[in-house]
Amino acid sequence: MRSFPPSMVRSPPISAARLRIHPRAGSSLRLAARPITTSLPHRDASASPSTPSPGKPQLPLGTPSPTEAPPAPLAAVPAPRLFDLTNRTVIVAGAARGLGLTVARAFLEAGAHVQALDLLPKPDEPAWSQTQKVAADRGVTLTYGTLDVTDQQQVHDVFEKCFDAAPTNAPVRGLFVSAGIQLMIDAIDYPADQFRKLIDVNLTGTFLCAQAFAREWTSRNPNSTEAVEKAEHSVSTGNTASIVMTASMSGSVANRGINAAPYNASKAGVVQLGRNLAMEWGERGIRVNTLSPGYIRTALTAKLLQDRPDFNELWLGGSLLGRLSTPDEFRGPAIFMLSDASSFMTGADLIVDGGHTAT
Ligand SMILES: NC(=O)c1ccc[n+]([C@@H]2O[C@H](COP(=O)([O-])OP(=O)(O)OC[C@H]3O[C@@H](n4cnc5c(N)ncnc54)[C@H](O)[C@@H]3O)[C@@H](O)[C@H]2O)c1
Repeated sequence: MRSFPPSMVRSPPISAARLRIHPRAGSSLRLAARPITTSLPHRDASASPSTPSPGKPQLPLGTPSPTEAPPAPLAAVPAPRLFDLTNRTVIVAGAARGLGLTVARAFLEAGAHVQALDLLPKPDEPAWSQTQKVAADRGVTLTYGTLDVTDQQQVHDVFEKCFDAAPTNAPVRGLFVSAGIQLMIDAIDYPADQFRKLIDVNLTGTFLCAQAFAREWTSRNPNSTEAVEKAEHSVSTGNTASIVMTASMSGSVANRGINAAPYNASKAGVVQLGRNLAMEWGERGIRVNTLSPGYIRTALTAKLLQDRPDFNELWLGGSLLGRLSTPDEFRGPAIFMLSDASSFMTGADLIVDGGHTAT
């Protein structure tokens, strides 16, 4: 049987930061030491409620709620402003067309500066020119650069430049990864090199973008862990970031008639990746969530529908709304996930699929 070297099985040391009790917890602990006045079921009339049993935690049941309200830095922000992306820069990977370009434009409309990246040397026209006009009208910047998300060194170099280039009053605080490919081949015939390529772009590429983002963010926000512990994150202090990775409803179901096993596996991987990154980076002030669209009419699906017109009916049949979606219908969810409107959401998968996976 294969045994792992000790370095691989040893639990990581628990950092002091993880063990530290929240500074405000002290007040509730003191309050908890007062006698219980609530009417709890009486087990032993002779036992004093303040006498701790040996080996048991000393906090009694029915701990009174603390008189001091917990910090709520966003509570004073009017609700519509929670969706505001001003004073921040968002990187969109896979922004030359389709969903990525559509949400990039929406981020500009919400006030963000946007750095668009894609494998293609040039973005789609006329959509790009229209997006540039939105940026000019809003007085925010929009840049375009080429990037292959599968190349780790390139991803890190490009992200470093993106963070460096962001306006000083609008640091990079958001990442939306939309880059992805699809290739339908029966599983029984799927060539290994094509399988690997698909996983490389959709899963590894998404991971590399998130990793590069988290490294840059952490190196530029060394105090974010402490700020998160003190719950000081707010619109004004801006010491949190949000990563949104595009998965798919195909990460949760096997789409009838669509023989694309590695695509679905890659998207299921993106959903799980989101949970793990959220777990690792929450204390750094980085939220990580996945967006799982249903069928969208984009270049990716247009070709499939052209080759197989019967898919149209098959896909419509699965939608509880009786139609496919259009890329603009993901603007709201994307802005929500990137903005402070979703400040307590991390490690989640937001399925926006017209009810396809509900049945
Ligand atoms: N279209 C749909 O029905 C649908 C449904 C669910 C999820 N999705 C997902 O949404 C995302 C966007 O899809 P879309 O429909 O807009 O497709 P699209 O093909 O229009 O856009 C994908 C973009 O990713 C870019 N890209 C591909 N490989 C890359 C690489 N190695 N490096 C950098 N960029 C690369 C492409 O150049 C393209 O601009 C994808 O992740 C896709 O899997 C799409």
